[in-house]
Amino acid sequence: MKSTKINIAIDGYSSCGKSTLAKEIAKQLDYVFIDTGAMYRAVTLFALENKLINGVLNEIELISRLPQIEITFEFNKERGTSDVLLNGKNVETEIRQMKVSEKVSLVAAVKEVRKKLVELQQKMGNKKGVVMDGRDIGTVVFPFAELKIFMTANKDVRANRRFEELQLKSEKTTLELVKANLEQRDYIDTNRKEDPLRQAEDAKVLDNSELSREEQIVIAMSWVEAAKSNLA
Ligand code: DC
Repeated sequence: MKSTKINIAIDGYSSCGKSTLAKEIAKQLDYVFIDTGAMYRAVTLFALENKLINGVLNEIELISRLPQIEITFEFNKERGTSDVLLNGKNVETEIRQMKVSEKVSLVAAVKEVRKKLVELQQKMGNKKGVVMDGRDIGTVVFPFAELKIFMTANKDVRANRRFEELQLKSEKTTLELVKANLEQRDYIDTNRKEDPLRQAEDAKVLDNSELSREEQIVIAMSWVEAAKSNLA
């Protein structure tokens, strides 16, 4: 029987709820969810641990050490999704800390870092059945994805959501700092030279500022069904 599995690309700004939606779609379809932001975060953690960022990023040194960086995923039964491993060590919690968030856009702007991670991501999707979220999935990683979703939300809604998440993890920060970090990341992510965040021409736009989780799922699943029926 012909496989009707598709690849689903979800792109958008930071803290728009991309991962939440991607996880839920993957669960409903029994697909693999891949959080590509976690991969850029793991490389950033490597750079921090190896003192390659002292205010500025030592790009040349990071590029020369890229072959020493191995990024893999490991299924976490409790969470029902995969954790990211950096050279065999589970760093899922560490990569979400503000110290990583503050520097990740710098690392994600490096051409060689992107080349390495994009290749890995493309391999993960070559059998289809993948829901991948990031910034360049519909434009660079899977330009032929059967379904592309571009998520947006109002800035204050995003900052509040992120702030609440960090508070649950007992991270000491303020709403103002979280908002400033989001604005800075948006700026770097959309203005960088290499694979900047932009909406693919054929992406469906989902503005979730005023949508509940359930409402988002209903909309996204209707797009999934339409994309699958186009295959048949
Ligand atoms: O989705 P996130 O906030 O965890 O992503 C962390 C950073 O990584 C974000 O600033 C943009 C960058 N990123 C990217 O450039 N390309 C991707 N495919 C995913 C994330």
